[in-house]
Amino acid sequence: MDFKYKVAELLSEASGISSSDLIEKIEIPPQRELGDYAFPCFVLSKSLRKAPHQIAGDLAANPILQAPFLEKVQQVGGYVNFFIKKGEYVKEVLSEVLFEGEQYARSSEGEGKTVLVEFSSPNIAKPFHVGHAFTTVLGHSISRIYEKLGYPVVRMNHLGDYGTQFGKLITAFRLWGDVDALHEAPIKELLRIYVKFHDEEKKNPDLTLRARENFRLLESGNEAEVNLWNEFRELSLKEFALIYDRLGVRFDNYNGESYYSDKIPAVVDMLNEKGLLIESEGAKVVMLDEYKLPPCIILKSDGTTIYASRDIAAALYRYDTYHFHKNIYVVGTPQALHFRQVFSVLDKAGYTFSKDCVHVGFGLVKFADMKFSTREGNIIVLDDLLKESVAKTYDIIKANAELRNTGMSESEIREISEKVGIGAVIYTFVKSGRERDIVFSWDEMLDFEGDTAPYLIYTYARSRSILRKAAEQGIFPAPPESESLLLLSTEEEFAVTRLIAEMPDAIKRAAQSYEPFMIARQTSQIARAFNRFYNNTSILNGTDLHEKEARLALCSAVCTSIAIGTNLLGIDIVERM
Ligand code: ARG
Repeated sequence: MDFKYKVAELLSEASGISSSDLIEKIEIPPQRELGDYAFPCFVLSKSLRKAPHQIAGDLAANPILQAPFLEKVQQVGGYVNFFIKKGEYVKEVLSEVLFEGEQYARSSEGEGKTVLVEFSSPNIAKPFHVGHAFTTVLGHSISRIYEKLGYPVVRMNHLGDYGTQFGKLITAFRLWGDVDALHEAPIKELLRIYVKFHDEEKKNPDLTLRARENFRLLESGNEAEVNLWNEFRELSLKEFALIYDRLGVRFDNYNGESYYSDKIPAVVDMLNEKGLLIESEGAKVVMLDEYKLPPCIILKSDGTTIYASRDIAAALYRYDTYHFHKNIYVVGTPQALHFRQVFSVLDKAGYTFSKDCVHVGFGLVKFADMKFSTREGNIIVLDDLLKESVAKTYDIIKANAELRNTGMSESEIREISEKVGIGAVIYTFVKSGRERDIVFSWDEMLDFEGDTAPYLIYTYARSRSILRKAAEQGIFPAPPESESLLLLSTEEEFAVTRLIAEMPDAIKRAAQSYEPFMIARQTSQIARAFNRFYNNTSILNGTDLHEKEARLALCSAVCTSIAIGTNLLGIDIVERM
């Protein structure tokens, strides 16, 4: 347990204020001389009608605060500073981690509250570009974070599998499609004919009419068009599945836009009955002035449905089906207005669940130094990014294996490179706040000393190798509650432990703000603090067996924490490297 809570409880007992109100106020002082926790008393001066320094003085002298886990309690100005007994602290925290293993930091707060996470949602027949990679990585991580907190999670892939472009594709395929090419590389072939269609359309407007007619046939369920569309969809999905497999991502539901198209008439009726549908320039819209938003178009002037109406139908369907606690959309920030309109229409129609719908946006993806031989013009396809990352990682690991003569087999090197190379790409997406633009740079993302996945994985693998080496010598980590753990009381040991103790909080904050980077940061801080400790302490060379066992226990808790952190980010670790 994080001792912050214990401090809050003592303060609560001494002041009569609830500890949940106090916990937010407790600070971690910037300087070690000011203790491990500090409580700023000005937050109480209004209700107690006393000056902060007086309150601090009274509290510091209060016997309630003289708990056995505290070294001393001190007043400095308007602050009460708490110094905790480091050995006790380390023992308590490590015991919990050692005891719980990978279950550490799990919570049951989400029991029975279903959370829908919609992410990835690529468009059929179009390449899976790096923007889709961003939502995929974020959504995958957010799903795991909510699961860790006990929420039942449903992963939804809202495929872009509907719209007038499918009329164009059907027309184009009948004219120029190559069946063999379609089966060999579906998206490449579909993109080729789509691009061709747009070129030809400029010269031959008749194509536009034919495309429109084919879409109409598709919408009305005409067999030939539906079959072709189905084939495009299935083949695209097969290609996407390769990417998802590689990233370790799965979905519970692939209901795309097409799934909701026949649910739109009911939406139109509902909006009509509630008197919300207004005629505007031939289209049917819902006015959203009171939300300070432009009107939301529900039906276009030709009577066809649009993206927004499909999203409204989808939200209603999701609520009926899942009675969700939260309905999260991981979609790029440029669609923020769209989601505000959709949620506002639902609110205006009286659906209170609209406040549980959340748009989780993210920034753009840029490239610093990368020269890609992209297959698809100027967009960067995830597949190429992964391929290149894995290849570069392979070179690094191979060179290192030769240098250190690790005796790793070729297949082992390949397996490790795959995990580390993909991890490096994933980490780049989750290392900063999601709304910031991302800049990919090979030098940065593959730096084994930097804030990177390779660094985390390497730290993990090295700690595992220490544990293996110790086991060969017959030395094992101290078990939970062992008195040996009290021996870990240096600043460095304390620093690592403290970061581990903060992990559960970091996970909760990450869930509340839909920000996986908070977990990335916590995990990388743990790794960094551990490496500082490791570089200054020779874990296995000491003379005292109990001390060695205690340090191995710290090592083991670090491994567990890195394993938990990377898992929540969707990154695989390796046992040696
Ligand atoms: N398919 C869309 C795109 O690639 C994203 C779909 C977002 N989800 C939604 N419910 N509108 O831009």
